[in-house]
Formats: sequence, C-alpha cells, structure tokens
Amino acid sequence: MLPTDPMKKLSFKRHISDGDLVIVYEKHDNMKAVKVSEKSVLENRFGVFKHSDWIGKPFGCKVSSHKGGFVYLLAPTPELWTLVLSHRTQILYIADISFVVMYLELIPGCVVLESGTGSGSLTTSLARAIAPTGHVYTFDFHEQRAIAAREDFEKTGLSDLVSVGVRDIQGEGFPKDLVGRADAVFLDLPQPWLAIPSAGEMLKEDGVLCSFSPCIEQVQRSSETLASNSFTDIRTFEVLLRTYEVREAKMDQCQTQTQTEEGTPGARPFKRKQRASEASNWQADNSGSPSVMARPSGEAKGHTGYLTFARLKCIA
Ligand SMILES: C[S@@+](CC[C@H](N)C(=O)[O-])C[C@H]1O[C@@H](n2cnc3c(N)ncnc32)[C@H](O)[C@@H]1O
Repeated sequence: MLPTDPMKKLSFKRHISDGDLVIVYEKHDNMKAVKVSEKSVLENRFGVFKHSDWIGKPFGCKVSSHKGGFVYLLAPTPELWTLVLSHRTQILYIADISFVVMYLELIPGCVVLESGTGSGSLTTSLARAIAPTGHVYTFDFHEQRAIAAREDFEKTGLSDLVSVGVRDIQGEGFPKDLVGRADAVFLDLPQPWLAIPSAGEMLKEDGVLCSFSPCIEQVQRSSETLASNSFTDIRTFEVLLRTYEVREAKMDQCQTQTQTEEGTPGARPFKRKQRASEASNWQADNSGSPSVMARPSGEAKGHTGYLTFARLKCIA
C-alpha cells in the first residue's frame, strides 16, 4: 500500500524544538548534524553551547557560546544533509543529484525505485521531490547499510516517505509487487545492466530510468541492454560543477597580479600560489578602491560518474 496521508510530509517548520535535527555550521567546510536535547551541550573550539538556548529560535540563527564564540543553526535540508551525512559508501553530490531529480521528472506523488541505497545521499533528495504523497522504495543488499539508512531517514523525518529493503537487485530484480508502479527508477550499482530488465518491468509506460556509473565501459554495456529492453531516448551526461570564490580586493593590486599571471587584464586576478598571503594583504592594504572579484574555486570536483537516462517505450 502506498502511503497517501497528506499529513505525512516533510517538515518545513521555521523554529527549533527539542528533539529536532539541526546542522551546526562553523564554516563552509565544517558542519555537523546535532540532535537538539534540552539538557545537552555542544562543545567545540568556540566554547560551550547550551541546547536549551537554541529551542524556540528560528532555523538560520546565530547562537553564542558562554565565551562569546558563535555558530549558525541551519535546517537539515537534503543539500546540507548530503554534506554532513556519515559516508558508508561513495555518495552522489549536489550537481549529479539536481540533474537526476530534474531528468527523472520527479514531482509530488511520484513512486521511485532506487538501488543501491548506499549512504542515502540521493534518497534524501528523491524523498523531498516526491513528498508529501509519493514514495521511494530503495534497496541495498548490504543489511547494515540498509539499517543505518533507515536510522538516518528517521532522524531526517523522511521515514514515512521512504521504505528501505534488503535485496540483491542485480541477482533477483525488484520485488514483483512493484511491477508497473514506478514513475522512475534509479540505479547506482556495479553491474546495472543486470537490473535493467527488472527495472523495465517496474516502470509505468513512459517512465524514466537513470543509471549512475563511474566508468564508460559500464555506460556502454548499460546502453546496449537498455536498447534491447524497450527503452528509448537513451542519453548519457557527465555533470561537472565549477564553484567560485568571491572576495573583496583593491583594483590596483588586482590589475598588477592579473598582468603578471596571464597577461590578460581582468581575466584571472589572483595567482594560485599566492592565494593565502594575498588574502591577508587585502585586509592590510588600504590604498585604491575595493572591488568584488570572483574566480573558480581550486576545490572544484572533477569526474564523479556518468548519468545515463532512458525512457520506457509506450506500447502504442
Ligand atoms: C555507491 S553506493 C550508492 C550510493 C548512493 N547513491 C548515495 O548517494 O548515497 C552503491 C550501493 O549499492 C549496493 N549494491 C551493490 N550491489 C548491489 C546489489 N546487487 N543489490 C543491491 N545493492 C547493491 C552497495 O552495497 C552500496 O551500498
């Protein structure tokens, strides 16, 4: 039975209560998930923070420790959860996840099948996309991972939207009671071609499948299997994300650096190796007018995997 109770939805509440999960943000590369408990404290290098001071405050607020240090308390959105969850496996990140949610055409009420569950990074975003009336059935053959994922979905308030099954999807396929009920299927498996015939049986007419694979040889084999299993519109993408660092700097300083680096004024204002020392120079140098400068981040992620999409043919 699919859960159809519209009350079983993701929480979009604005204020922190006892028992809530919050993301404690120290800086962009230092965040952690904390369950609020009235009698507990959080201790870090900024001091001791009493949870009781957090209750009733809005998500996004800045809170202070006994010695004046501060952190931000953020809502546990799927985007932040992906950054703080415990990595039991390789996971999908925001760039691939966003693309998957869009190309699988997910809307509230959809039924999605997924395997493997892994660390539940993608599952969390699938659940939000199909909430409040849809459902994600996710399967992993590794029992401990399935148990840990269920615990995480409890913590993040998604357990009414997600069912986690322990099953060898490459060996046995998806359960027969799901035949013809899926709007979308997502595979993150080492040999996805073994699960494709079953995925085809699970999909509604016109349903969409996506398979994530790190290697192009896996993509080739999956694509052949898709073509011979009534799938059409087979397309593969690689999503590469480029983030930018934005800082304030003095124009005259930037121009000098630009010319020494590339000979192209305005193109790339900062030399790579000088980054750290420059950052402090910007603070110290009071001459010239400050400007906002942007450049691609040195931490940008490279290849993660290929996303192969295909649509089950209509029987006209
Ligand atoms: C890379 S992880 C998936 C990560 C997940 N997409 C995420 O974002 O967190 C791959 C998972 O597939 C599971 N797996 C591998 N072979 C499987 C099979 N035959 N049936 C079910 N699960 C399988 C593994 O146990 C592992 O947890």
